Amino acid sequence: MTTKGFIFDLDGVIVDTAKYHFMAWNDLANSLGIAFSEAQNEQLKGVSRVDSLKKILDWGNITLTDQEFASRMTSKNQEYLSYIEQMNESEILPGVLNALLYIQSKGHLIGLGSASKNARLILEKVGLISHFDCIIDGTDVTRAKPDPEVFLKAAGALRLNPDHCIVFEDAAAGIQAANAANMISIGIGNEEFLFEADLVLSGMKEIDESMIDTLVWSNSKSEFKKHKQL
Ligand code: BG6
Ligand code: MG
Repeated sequence: MTTKGFIFDLDGVIVDTAKYHFMAWNDLANSLGIAFSEAQNEQLKGVSRVDSLKKILDWGNITLTDQEFASRMTSKNQEYLSYIEQMNESEILPGVLNALLYIQSKGHLIGLGSASKNARLILEKVGLISHFDCIIDGTDVTRAKPDPEVFLKAAGALRLNPDHCIVFEDAAAGIQAANAANMISIGIGNEEFLFEADLVLSGMKEIDESMIDTLVWSNSKSEFKKHKQL
């Protein structure tokens, strides 16, 4: 049997850290007199730290010096880290651990493909780091999703062909990145935003053993989509 690689995004798939990003960005925006909504926070999903700050400044029509920009980034991350420090395994999203254990029990590989530079710390905090055969995060890539770099690097680190990998993602840009890498793309969240995925699930809790088996037996994106229609 071919060994498959299951590559997971972190924020929004394994843990719900969007609420912590929201609190930290909200405080930063407010301190600059910029209103910041949950809807705007949605638009920052999957977006790198530097691009997130650029977007917030655009929304508020504010320009900062390079030095001020760097110091705002640092303080946002410090606040975010203060929330991350409190995390524990209770914050693993439902369905994640069972899926990881089943994938491992069948001899397949597990990778992380995240934009976050805090990914390793978060995986340590929630006690999942030992389940990952490779971790590719925001410190390893130069091109952000929807560029496929993060997932291609993960496939390389797992020593697998990209078309033997399956990606789980909650951001539209991440689904596009997985598709560009020719990997089966599973959207986690709302179909309205994730319509480009090969399959959309409302959460990881919807993944069961038979679905993982189907993913393992599907030798291509098109074969998986055919299975899905049966
Ligand atoms: C992504 C999140 O996974 O990582 C984004 O969805 C976040 O909201 C990005 O901005 C970068 O994260 P960090 O931890 O490096 O600031
Ligand atoms: Mg995400």
